[in-house]
Amino acid sequence: MGKHSVEELYDIVSDLVKWASSSSVPYSQRLEEHLVGVACFRDKPRTLSLMEIIDKTTPEGAVGIDAGAGTGILGWSFLNAGGGYLYLVESMGVYRKFLERVAKELGFEDMVEVHIVNAAKFKPAKRLDYIVAELVITGLLNEPLVEVIKHLRQYANPECRFLPEKAVSKVELWGRVEHEGKQAIIPLSSDGVVYDEVEVRSIERDGVDTVVEFEVDTAGLPNKLVATTELIHPGGYKTGMFDTLCTPMTMYLDSVRGRRVREGDRVKVRINYKYGETKTWASLVE
Ligand SMILES: C[S@@+](CC[C@H](N)C(=O)[O-])C[C@H]1O[C@@H](n2cnc3c(N)ncnc32)[C@H](O)[C@@H]1O
Repeated sequence: MGKHSVEELYDIVSDLVKWASSSSVPYSQRLEEHLVGVACFRDKPRTLSLMEIIDKTTPEGAVGIDAGAGTGILGWSFLNAGGGYLYLVESMGVYRKFLERVAKELGFEDMVEVHIVNAAKFKPAKRLDYIVAELVITGLLNEPLVEVIKHLRQYANPECRFLPEKAVSKVELWGRVEHEGKQAIIPLSSDGVVYDEVEVRSIERDGVDTVVEFEVDTAGLPNKLVATTELIHPGGYKTGMFDTLCTPMTMYLDSVRGRRVREGDRVKVRINYKYGETKTWASLVE
Protein backbone atom coordinates (compact mmCIF):
# COMPACT_ATOMS: atom_id res chain seq x y z
CA MET A 1 0.00 0.00 0.00
CA GLY A 2 1.41 3.39 -1.00
CA LYS A 3 1.66 6.22 1.45
CA HIS A 4 -0.99 8.93 1.27
CA SER A 5 -0.27 12.60 1.76
CA VAL A 6 -1.63 13.96 5.05
CA GLU A 7 -4.40 15.83 3.17
CA GLU A 8 -5.37 12.72 1.16
CA LEU A 9 -5.54 10.63 4.31
CA TYR A 10 -7.70 13.27 6.02
CA ASP A 11 -10.08 13.30 3.03
CA ILE A 12 -10.39 9.50 2.93
CA VAL A 13 -11.23 9.34 6.64
CA SER A 14 -13.51 12.37 6.29
CA ASP A 15 -15.64 10.54 3.69
CA LEU A 16 -15.90 7.58 6.08
CA VAL A 17 -16.88 9.88 8.98
CA LYS A 18 -19.60 11.38 6.74
CA TRP A 19 -20.89 7.91 5.94
CA ALA A 20 -20.77 6.89 9.64
CA SER A 21 -22.75 9.97 10.67
CA SER A 22 -25.59 9.26 8.22
CA SER A 23 -28.92 7.73 9.18
CA SER A 24 -28.08 4.58 7.18
CA VAL A 25 -25.80 3.54 10.07
CA PRO A 26 -27.47 1.95 13.16
CA TYR A 27 -27.84 4.52 15.93
CA SER A 28 -25.49 2.63 18.30
CA GLN A 29 -22.66 3.03 15.73
CA ARG A 30 -23.50 6.49 14.44
CA LEU A 31 -20.82 9.17 14.77
CA GLU A 32 -22.90 12.17 15.67
CA GLU A 33 -21.58 15.74 15.68
CA HIS A 34 -21.77 16.10 19.46
CA LEU A 35 -19.13 13.40 20.06
CA VAL A 36 -15.89 15.03 21.16
CA GLY A 37 -13.82 12.83 18.84
CA VAL A 38 -15.97 13.85 15.86
CA ALA A 39 -15.81 17.56 16.73
CA CYS A 40 -12.02 17.27 17.06
CA PHE A 41 -11.75 15.50 13.70
CA ARG A 42 -13.81 18.20 12.00
CA ASP A 43 -11.48 20.87 13.39
CA LYS A 44 -9.34 20.49 10.27
CA PRO A 45 -6.50 22.93 11.14
CA ARG A 46 -6.00 21.16 14.50
CA THR A 47 -6.18 17.70 12.99
CA LEU A 48 -3.86 18.44 10.06
CA SER A 49 -1.28 20.06 12.38
CA LEU A 50 -1.13 16.98 14.59
CA MET A 51 -1.16 14.61 11.59
CA GLU A 52 1.77 16.45 10.02
CA ILE A 53 3.81 16.18 13.23
CA ILE A 54 3.12 12.44 13.42
CA ASP A 55 3.94 12.10 9.72
CA LYS A 56 7.37 13.66 10.29
CA THR A 57 8.26 11.92 13.55
CA THR A 58 7.12 8.29 13.26
CA PRO A 59 10.04 5.82 13.18
CA GLU A 60 9.71 3.06 10.56
CA GLY A 61 8.14 -0.09 12.04
CA ALA A 62 7.38 1.55 15.42
CA VAL A 63 4.73 0.21 17.82
CA GLY A 64 2.28 2.95 18.72
CA ILE A 65 -0.83 3.63 20.73
CA ASP A 66 -3.54 6.19 20.05
CA ALA A 67 -5.02 6.64 23.53
CA GLY A 68 -8.43 8.30 23.27
CA ALA A 69 -8.57 7.46 19.58
CA GLY A 70 -11.98 8.90 18.62
CA THR A 71 -12.03 8.51 14.81
CA GLY A 72 -8.48 7.11 15.04
CA ILE A 73 -7.18 9.84 12.75
CA LEU A 74 -3.90 10.28 14.64
CA GLY A 75 -3.37 6.51 14.71
CA TRP A 76 -4.06 6.24 10.96
CA SER A 77 -1.44 8.96 10.43
CA PHE A 78 1.05 6.94 12.46
CA LEU A 79 0.55 3.80 10.33
CA ASN A 80 0.47 5.83 7.11
CA ALA A 81 3.84 7.33 8.10
CA GLY A 82 5.46 3.89 8.46
CA GLY A 83 4.41 2.79 11.96
CA GLY A 84 4.38 -1.02 12.17
CA TYR A 85 1.72 -1.80 14.79
CA LEU A 86 -1.00 0.23 16.49
CA TYR A 87 -3.26 -0.02 19.51
CA LEU A 88 -6.37 2.11 19.11
CA VAL A 89 -7.81 2.64 22.58
CA GLU A 90 -11.10 4.46 23.07
CA SER A 91 -13.55 4.46 25.97
CA MET A 92 -16.71 4.92 23.84
CA GLY A 93 -18.08 1.80 22.15
CA VAL A 94 -19.80 3.84 19.43
CA TYR A 95 -16.42 4.10 17.63
CA ARG A 96 -15.62 0.36 17.49
CA LYS A 97 -17.23 -0.61 14.16
CA PHE A 98 -16.01 2.60 12.55
CA LEU A 99 -12.40 1.96 13.61
CA GLU A 100 -12.56 -1.63 12.34
CA ARG A 101 -14.03 -0.47 9.03
CA VAL A 102 -11.38 2.24 8.48
CA ALA A 103 -8.59 -0.23 9.29
CA LYS A 104 -9.92 -2.43 6.46
CA GLU A 105 -10.43 0.41 4.00
CA LEU A 106 -6.86 1.62 4.54
CA GLY A 107 -5.40 -1.91 4.36
CA PHE A 108 -4.20 -1.77 7.98
CA GLU A 109 -6.36 -4.53 9.47
CA ASP A 110 -3.39 -6.83 10.28
CA MET A 111 -1.52 -4.02 12.04
CA VAL A 112 -4.27 -2.73 14.34
CA GLU A 113 -5.96 -3.77 17.57
CA VAL A 114 -9.09 -1.87 18.61
CA HIS A 115 -9.78 -1.81 22.37
CA ILE A 116 -12.83 -0.17 23.91
CA VAL A 117 -11.50 0.43 27.43
CA ASN A 118 -10.20 3.13 29.72
CA ALA A 119 -6.68 3.90 28.43
CA ALA A 120 -5.53 4.36 32.05
CA LYS A 121 -6.15 0.61 32.56
CA PHE A 122 -5.03 -0.76 29.19
CA LYS A 123 -2.06 -3.17 29.18
CA PRO A 124 -0.42 -3.44 25.74
CA ALA A 125 1.29 -6.77 25.01
CA LYS A 126 4.07 -5.04 23.01
CA ARG A 127 6.44 -2.31 24.26
CA LEU A 128 5.57 1.13 22.92
CA ASP A 129 7.71 3.40 20.71
CA TYR A 130 5.14 6.18 20.26
CA ILE A 131 2.36 7.22 22.63
CA VAL A 132 -0.23 9.55 21.11
CA ALA A 133 -2.70 10.94 23.65
CA GLU A 134 -4.67 13.95 22.50
CA LEU A 135 -6.48 14.04 25.83
CA VAL A 136 -5.78 17.70 26.30
CA ILE A 137 -7.73 20.73 27.41
CA THR A 138 -6.14 23.99 28.57
CA GLY A 139 -4.45 23.56 31.94
CA LEU A 140 -4.78 19.75 31.59
CA LEU A 141 -8.19 20.02 33.27
CA ASN A 142 -11.24 17.90 32.30
CA GLU A 143 -9.33 15.25 30.33
CA PRO A 144 -7.28 12.39 31.82
CA LEU A 145 -3.96 13.02 29.99
CA VAL A 146 -1.74 12.84 33.07
CA GLU A 147 -3.48 9.79 34.54
CA VAL A 148 -3.35 7.94 31.19
CA ILE A 149 0.30 8.83 30.51
CA LYS A 150 1.45 7.83 34.01
CA HIS A 151 -0.07 4.42 33.35
CA LEU A 152 1.02 3.91 29.71
CA ARG A 153 4.61 5.05 30.14
CA GLN A 154 5.26 1.86 32.16
CA TYR A 155 5.05 0.07 28.79
CA ALA A 156 7.28 2.51 26.91
CA ASN A 157 10.66 1.72 25.36
CA PRO A 158 13.44 4.10 26.50
CA GLU A 159 13.32 6.06 23.21
CA CYS A 160 9.51 6.29 23.21
CA ARG A 161 8.02 9.48 21.73
CA PHE A 162 5.01 11.15 23.29
CA LEU A 163 2.47 13.41 21.61
CA PRO A 164 2.34 15.76 23.39
CA GLU A 165 5.78 15.64 25.08
CA LYS A 166 5.15 18.73 27.17
CA ALA A 167 2.34 21.14 28.10
CA VAL A 168 3.15 24.69 29.20
CA SER A 169 0.30 26.68 30.75
CA LYS A 170 0.20 30.45 31.25
CA VAL A 171 -2.21 32.84 32.94
CA GLU A 172 -3.07 36.50 32.57
CA LEU A 173 -4.79 38.61 35.24
CA TRP A 174 -8.02 40.21 33.99
CA GLY A 175 -10.31 42.65 35.74
CA ARG A 176 -13.05 45.23 35.57
CA VAL A 177 -12.12 48.75 34.51
CA GLU A 178 -14.23 51.87 34.11
CA HIS A 179 -13.71 54.30 31.30
CA GLU A 180 -15.98 57.31 30.68
CA GLY A 181 -18.79 55.69 32.69
CA LYS A 182 -18.57 52.37 30.82
CA GLN A 183 -17.30 49.07 32.22
CA ALA A 184 -15.10 46.53 30.46
CA ILE A 185 -13.16 43.42 31.46
CA ILE A 186 -9.62 43.51 30.11
CA PRO A 187 -6.09 42.30 31.04
CA LEU A 188 -4.69 44.24 34.03
CA SER A 189 -1.20 42.91 33.45
CA SER A 190 0.30 42.76 29.98
CA ASP A 191 2.59 39.81 30.70
CA GLY A 192 1.26 36.28 31.00
CA VAL A 193 2.92 34.18 33.71
CA VAL A 194 3.83 30.51 33.19
CA TYR A 195 2.25 28.64 36.10
CA ASP A 196 2.68 25.00 35.06
CA GLU A 197 5.01 22.89 32.91
CA VAL A 198 4.28 19.21 32.50
CA GLU A 199 6.86 16.87 30.95
CA VAL A 200 4.76 13.82 30.27
CA ARG A 201 7.64 11.31 30.42
CA SER A 202 8.49 12.30 33.99
CA ILE A 203 5.46 14.03 35.59
CA GLU A 204 4.75 12.67 39.08
CA ARG A 205 2.49 15.42 40.49
CA ASP A 206 -1.24 14.88 40.15
CA GLY A 207 -2.10 18.55 39.96
CA VAL A 208 -1.08 22.19 40.35
CA ASP A 209 -0.62 24.06 43.61
CA THR A 210 1.27 27.28 43.04
CA VAL A 211 1.19 31.03 43.67
CA VAL A 212 1.72 33.34 40.69
CA GLU A 213 2.54 37.03 40.93
CA PHE A 214 1.51 39.72 38.45
CA GLU A 215 2.69 43.29 38.10
CA VAL A 216 -0.35 45.43 37.38
CA ASP A 217 -0.08 47.89 34.49
CA THR A 218 -3.76 48.87 34.22
CA ALA A 219 -5.74 49.89 37.34
CA GLY A 220 -8.96 47.94 37.96
CA LEU A 221 -10.81 45.32 39.97
CA PRO A 222 -9.29 41.84 39.40
CA ASN A 223 -11.94 39.19 38.79
CA LYS A 224 -10.42 36.32 36.81
CA LEU A 225 -7.39 34.59 35.36
CA VAL A 226 -7.35 33.62 31.69
CA ALA A 227 -5.24 30.52 31.01
CA THR A 228 -3.79 29.22 27.75
CA THR A 229 -1.70 26.11 27.09
CA GLU A 230 0.97 25.47 24.48
CA LEU A 231 1.92 21.90 23.55
CA ILE A 232 5.38 20.72 22.55
CA HIS A 233 5.51 17.55 20.49
CA PRO A 234 8.17 15.14 19.19
CA GLY A 235 10.74 16.93 17.01
CA GLY A 236 10.17 20.13 19.02
CA TYR A 237 7.05 20.99 16.98
CA LYS A 238 4.65 23.25 18.87
CA THR A 239 0.91 23.77 18.73
CA GLY A 240 -1.15 26.46 20.40
CA MET A 241 -4.84 27.24 20.28
CA PHE A 242 -7.40 25.69 17.89
CA ASP A 243 -11.21 25.68 18.02
CA THR A 244 -11.21 22.33 19.88
CA LEU A 245 -7.76 22.32 21.48
CA CYS A 246 -6.28 24.61 24.15
CA THR A 247 -8.86 27.38 23.87
CA PRO A 248 -8.46 30.12 26.55
CA MET A 249 -9.92 29.05 29.89
CA THR A 250 -11.28 31.25 32.66
CA MET A 251 -10.55 30.73 36.35
CA TYR A 252 -12.69 33.15 38.36
CA LEU A 253 -11.16 34.60 41.52
CA ASP A 254 -13.06 33.30 44.54
CA SER A 255 -11.95 36.08 46.91
CA VAL A 256 -12.29 39.36 45.04
CA ARG A 257 -13.64 41.37 48.03
CA GLY A 258 -13.78 44.56 46.03
CA ARG A 259 -10.02 45.14 46.21
CA ARG A 260 -9.02 47.53 43.45
CA VAL A 261 -5.44 47.46 42.22
CA ARG A 262 -3.35 50.29 40.83
CA GLU A 263 -0.57 50.50 38.28
CA GLY A 264 2.65 49.07 39.76
CA ASP A 265 0.86 46.94 42.41
CA ARG A 266 1.86 43.31 42.71
CA VAL A 267 -0.99 40.80 42.91
CA LYS A 268 -0.54 37.20 44.05
CA VAL A 269 -2.97 34.46 43.09
CA ARG A 270 -3.03 30.84 44.20
CA ILE A 271 -3.91 28.25 41.56
CA ASN A 272 -4.75 24.86 42.98
CA TYR A 273 -6.36 21.98 41.10
CA LYS A 274 -5.97 18.32 40.21
CA TYR A 275 -5.31 17.37 36.58
CA GLY A 276 -8.45 16.01 34.95
CA GLU A 277 -10.90 17.70 37.31
CA THR A 278 -13.31 20.44 36.27
CA LYS A 279 -12.48 23.62 38.09
CA THR A 280 -12.74 27.24 37.13
CA TRP A 281 -11.58 29.37 40.04
CA ALA A 282 -8.42 30.59 41.79
CA SER A 283 -7.80 32.61 44.99
CA LEU A 284 -6.28 36.04 45.58
CA VAL A 285 -3.53 35.81 48.20
CA GLU A 286 -3.89 38.63 50.74
C1 LIG B 1 -10.09 15.09 22.39
S1 LIG B 1 -10.72 13.59 21.66
C2 LIG B 1 -9.40 13.20 20.55
C3 LIG B 1 -9.78 12.19 19.51
C4 LIG B 1 -8.66 11.84 18.53
N1 LIG B 1 -7.49 11.30 19.21
C5 LIG B 1 -8.25 13.05 17.74
O1 LIG B 1 -7.19 13.63 18.05
O2 LIG B 1 -8.98 13.46 16.84
C6 LIG B 1 -10.50 12.48 23.03
C7 LIG B 1 -11.11 11.09 22.87
O3 LIG B 1 -10.65 10.31 23.98
C8 LIG B 1 -11.71 9.53 24.51
N2 LIG B 1 -11.36 9.29 25.92
C9 LIG B 1 -11.46 10.17 26.96
N3 LIG B 1 -10.99 9.61 28.09
C10 LIG B 1 -10.56 8.36 27.76
C11 LIG B 1 -9.97 7.30 28.50
N4 LIG B 1 -9.71 7.41 29.82
N5 LIG B 1 -9.67 6.15 27.85
C12 LIG B 1 -9.92 6.02 26.51
N6 LIG B 1 -10.48 7.00 25.77
C13 LIG B 1 -10.80 8.15 26.38
C14 LIG B 1 -12.96 10.37 24.26
O4 LIG B 1 -14.12 9.54 24.20
C15 LIG B 1 -12.62 11.02 22.91
O5 LIG B 1 -13.08 10.23 21.85
